[in-house]
Amino acid sequence: VGRLEPARPLVGRRVLVTSGPTHEPIDPVRYIANRSSGRQGHAIARAAAEAGAYVTLVSGPVAQPDPPGVHVVHVESAREMLEAVEVALPADAAVFTAAVADWRVADAAEEKIKKQGTAAPTLTLVENPDILAHVSRMTKGRPGLVVGFAAETEHVIEHAKAKLARKGCDWIVANDVSPETGIMGGLSNTVHLVTATGVDDWPTLDKDEVARRLVARIATALRP
Ligand code: CTP
Ligand code: CA
Repeated sequence: VGRLEPARPLVGRRVLVTSGPTHEPIDPVRYIANRSSGRQGHAIARAAAEAGAYVTLVSGPVAQPDPPGVHVVHVESAREMLEAVEVALPADAAVFTAAVADWRVADAAEEKIKKQGTAAPTLTLVENPDILAHVSRMTKGRPGLVVGFAAETEHVIEHAKAKLARKGCDWIVANDVSPETGIMGGLSNTVHLVTATGVDDWPTLDKDEVARRLVARIATALRP
């Protein structure tokens, strides 16, 4: 291997990544969503593939192109995302970047809801399955390394530490999305890598660079 050959430390490894928002139907023409662009998750999938991994990317609806060399499964809702994640396992590492909708409409209408001249409709919400928590707590076939993301606007590290404990994952990439730093959908990211042993503060980086650094950390963690 020549000196200029890119490092491929994940050859032979399987990596699962979730990315993008989810869309939760209200009726056949309307949905609830969020501002996730999928940029960071797609960049992680691309970086893992470049590092030699077999990558499955489970993506909600995004405007990003499918990353080259990645097996992409397109889904809409949180429940579809959970199903696709279960199908994609086993994996050596799983990175949950998706901004999964916390709630869905309890009874999505089968026909378009019409204005009926009187009161506006009321939407009843129910909680979606927590995909990261579900995979983190699998007793059989849990990926060796489970990484969550946490987008926070305040108390970033405290909230991330609480999430790490609550969900049972191995790492949380805490993502500062306060208006002065992050802003969801932007090109750069200010993150802190929270693990059982401590917190690494990374400088504000391009999302591709965050992805490459995270993939390098994952490769180190998976090294026998
Ligand atoms: N996540 C998930 N399934 C959900 C909700 C969240 O897999 N139903 C994952 C996200 O992909 C992310 C992590 O959990 O990796 C944290 O998501 P976040 O929205 O920050 O955490 P929540 O537990 O939903 O807490 P809150 O939104 O109230 O801050
Ligand atoms: Ca949430």
